[in-house]
Amino acid sequence: MKKIILTGDRPTGCLHIGHYVGSLKNRLILQNQGDYDDFFIMIADAQALTDNASNPKKIRDSILNVAIDYLSIGIDPSKVHIFIQSEIKELTELTFYYLNLVTVSRLQRNPTVKQEIKLRGFEESIPVGFLTYPVSQAADITAFKANIIPVGVDQLPMIEQTREIVRSFNRTYGEVLVEPEEVLPENEVCFRLPGLDGNAKMSKSLGNCIYLSDSYEQLKTKVMGMYTDPLHLKVEDPGHTANNPVFTYLDAFACDEDFKKYYPEFKNLDELKKAYEHGGIGDVKIKKFLFEILNNFLEPIRENRKYYEEHLDEVYEILKEGTMYASTLAQKTLTEVKNAMKLNYFDNKQLLEEFKK
Ligand code: TRP
Repeated sequence: MKKIILTGDRPTGCLHIGHYVGSLKNRLILQNQGDYDDFFIMIADAQALTDNASNPKKIRDSILNVAIDYLSIGIDPSKVHIFIQSEIKELTELTFYYLNLVTVSRLQRNPTVKQEIKLRGFEESIPVGFLTYPVSQAADITAFKANIIPVGVDQLPMIEQTREIVRSFNRTYGEVLVEPEEVLPENEVCFRLPGLDGNAKMSKSLGNCIYLSDSYEQLKTKVMGMYTDPLHLKVEDPGHTANNPVFTYLDAFACDEDFKKYYPEFKNLDELKKAYEHGGIGDVKIKKFLFEILNNFLEPIRENRKYYEEHLDEVYEILKEGTMYASTLAQKTLTEVKNAMKLNYFDNKQLLEEFKK
């Protein structure tokens, strides 16, 4: 069986470090392992419109930013096809057929969609496009017969929904589609990075993110202003590391090497946590340490970003080429799907032959 990797992001702004640990990092690992037949990263503009219908400019403005984020972290366009969802019209056609294989109640049970409906105040009146975006996501995945999907945990319900659609389609029309499997981060703290403010989720709309494109100054202000342990008032007080986003970020980003470089009093995070919990370590000290680590991580990404911002034509061509390549493959799958569904009237005169019998 071929190994086809596919994943994507909604272009509603720049990508943040939650995206990085949740999924981008795994994409880099998979890319560098090189054990795949094809690799796609989709900029999901059509999906982004399902809850931004009245704000197409936001989506349009984010396309290049997201593409530059990918390239800046090290996604290599000679190994990965980056493409734009709305340019692949086969995806909408596939969605239309898959909609027949899913019930409204099944979509309403999707925990991620449920949560998003609440967050967006859609309870009273849900846009149909929004409720059905998991079906369109099944089209994104199956159009390329993708079976390896590096995503954050919030996307698990979409992958499960896709598997159900694949099974239902194959049972009803014949074996055409391929069931996908998710690839999650190895380190569980990376499943969902909290916001700077201690909110459970880092999210653009809450304004509590560290972006991959943040400058030195922006990063410093954000880290130094982070929410920590509210009970840790004096340096001597015992501190709490659980539900303390500074420590969660350290869990996600710090390695022993960082201690050697920036905090040689301690060998590793376990030691530092013990000392903080015991009392005697100020939050400013920990935040400075976190800042060093994150800044060291973002520094080369910033450099790469600068290069791409000065070579936008290159980015444009990468997107165009990736989209053309993706389009050819989606056409091929759509033809197979329509053949399986007997929606191929004018390929030859078989329709007439059948009628005469
Ligand atoms: N739903 C994903 C997100 O919000 C984006 C996405 C769209 C996606 N289509 C996909 C992810 C297909 C994986 C596979 O980030």
